[in-house]
Amino acid sequence: MKPVSFTSRNAAVKAWVYRHRGRVGVALLAVSLAVVAISCGTYTGTLIAPPQIAGATFVGSKSCEQCHQEIFRKFKTADHARLMAKGPNAEDMGCESCHGAGSLHNESGGAHHTIINPRRDPETCFQCHLEMRGSFATVSHHPLEDGKVSCADCHNPHEGRMIKGGGTSQASANETCTKCHTAQQGPFIFEHEAMREGCTTCHNPHGSVNQKMLVSRNQDLCLKCHFQQQNVGTSLTIGDFTHQGAGRTFLSEGTCWSGGCHEAVHGSLVNKHLRY
Ligand code: HEC
Ligand code: HEC
Ligand code: HEC
Ligand code: HEC
Ligand code: HEC
Ligand code: HEC
Ligand code: HEC
Repeated sequence: MKPVSFTSRNAAVKAWVYRHRGRVGVALLAVSLAVVAISCGTYTGTLIAPPQIAGATFVGSKSCEQCHQEIFRKFKTADHARLMAKGPNAEDMGCESCHGAGSLHNESGGAHHTIINPRRDPETCFQCHLEMRGSFATVSHHPLEDGKVSCADCHNPHEGRMIKGGGTSQASANETCTKCHTAQQGPFIFEHEAMREGCTTCHNPHGSVNQKMLVSRNQDLCLKCHFQQQNVGTSLTIGDFTHQGAGRTFLSEGTCWSGGCHEAVHGSLVNKHLRY
């Protein structure tokens, strides 16, 4: 077995700054010690401060290989493996950008409480993904508290695309959600085709200011796909159906999915209009 090097080559890399798609984190710049560019096409700029572990220094990803071979090997394909610091430490930013400086962990042979595990501590993610802290602080959000849900339930930190099931297969993206939310899985006799576009068509996966993590609080959620038409005279139709009764439109009664209307919005076993 190859000996582990305990030198702290990365000790100089104290901070790096990353700004998510141009959103500004000016205040944070003030605390940055060393600003390091991240080589990446879609994300411009940089962010700060990899997680700190008192007394530990940065030792580089290569030093993790000996004991975490499998993760190290697959990590080459991971989205986050593309994060690069400028300069001689370039290759080494990987593991410690999320887990914190690894010298104490390595020296102790992996003792408890010597390294950060983001499953228990999403702070390490928030440091770079600033806007996520806000999403998870909204009225309706996935409960990270007490580890009920973790970033890692929906994200792959070590391999391939960070967003599980992302890319080509919408079905597998939905499976990420339905493994916990079995009621929405179906199969339904009367499917709602919107489900094929994915859960995130209607829900923000992190959190939302709207109830049930919906991307929109009212009929706009539905009317982005369903055609609404105000006909000559008075009748209002959505799809092929009149949505107007004696002197009132149905939409004035509440949302499309409440008040006895399309309550089976994910699909129905009994009603083709998704009433119940
Ligand atoms: C000398 C062997 C060794 C080296 C080198 C090593 N680890 Fe570990 N690591 C371990 C052992 C042993 C555990 C404990 C496994 C357990 O508790 O089940 C562990 C656990 C972990 C955990 C989980 C901790 C937790 O609290 O859940 C993380 C994260 C981790 N290592 C990351 C790293 C990173 C990053 C590096 C490189 C900087 C690294 N390890 C280098 C042996 C090592
Ligand atoms: C994007 C952030 C990120 C990076 C970069 C990262 N990890 Fe992790 N790591 C995580 C998360 C999140 C978990 C928790 C995974 C879970 O519980 O499913 C984790 C868990 C672990 C564990 C605990 C065992 C396990 O599989 O759950 C080890 C060991 C580990 N990482 C080692 C590494 C090594 C070695 C590298 C570099 C080759 C690395 N990590 C890079 C985020 C990261
Ligand atoms: C050191 C800063 C840093 C840390 C720490 C970090 N990220 Fe990232 N993350 C980035 C950057 C930069 C990108 C863009 C990478 C790319 O596109 O190549 C990214 C990409 C992502 C993406 C993919 C976005 C997309 O559009 O495909 C997700 C999801 C993500 N990160 C989640 C996490 C989670 C979860 C954690 C904690 C376990 C974490 N990140 C920790 C900087 C960071
Ligand atoms: C319930 C599943 C789920 C959880 C938990 C989750 N995410 Fe995500 N995340 C997603 C999905 C799905 C997407 C893709 C969004 C889309 O396609 O609209 C995403 C996208 C992202 C992105 C890139 C796109 C964006 O919206 O900026 C980042 C960064 C990210 N997540 C970070 C995090 C972090 C950090 C955590 C933990 C604190 C986390 N996520 C927890 C499901 C989740
Ligand atoms: C690890 C399990 C898990 C995964 C994966 C998961 N969720 Fe959740 N989800 C939860 C928990 C726990 C709650 C909070 C439930 C509660 O408070 O009753 C929740 C709440 C919700 C809510 C709000 C429910 C309410 O009553 O306000 C919606 C909507 C939701 N999740 C959608 C999604 C979507 C979309 C995905 C996939 C991107 C997803 N979930 C993935 C566990 C999960
Ligand atoms: C066409 C839009 C749409 C799509 C697509 C969609 N949802 Fe929903 N979802 C809603 C609406 C609207 C509500 C609120 C229903 C209510 O309050 O009665 C909701 C409520 C929920 C709830 C809370 C259930 C409850 O009983 O309070 C969960 C969990 C949920 N959705 C998960 C999912 C999952 C998982 C997917 C993907 C498999 C998904 N949704 C796809 C529109 C959608
Ligand atoms: C991503 C696009 C999309 C969204 C968003 C969407 N739908 Fe649909 N919906 C469809 C498609 C496609 C069909 C099947 C074709 C059709 O009947 O128009 C459908 C069918 C329906 C049907 C059955 C039509 C009938 O014969 O009665 C109802 C009811 C319905 N949707 C209600 C809603 C409601 C309520 C919302 C908002 C919570 C919503 N839809 C959001 C795409 C969408």
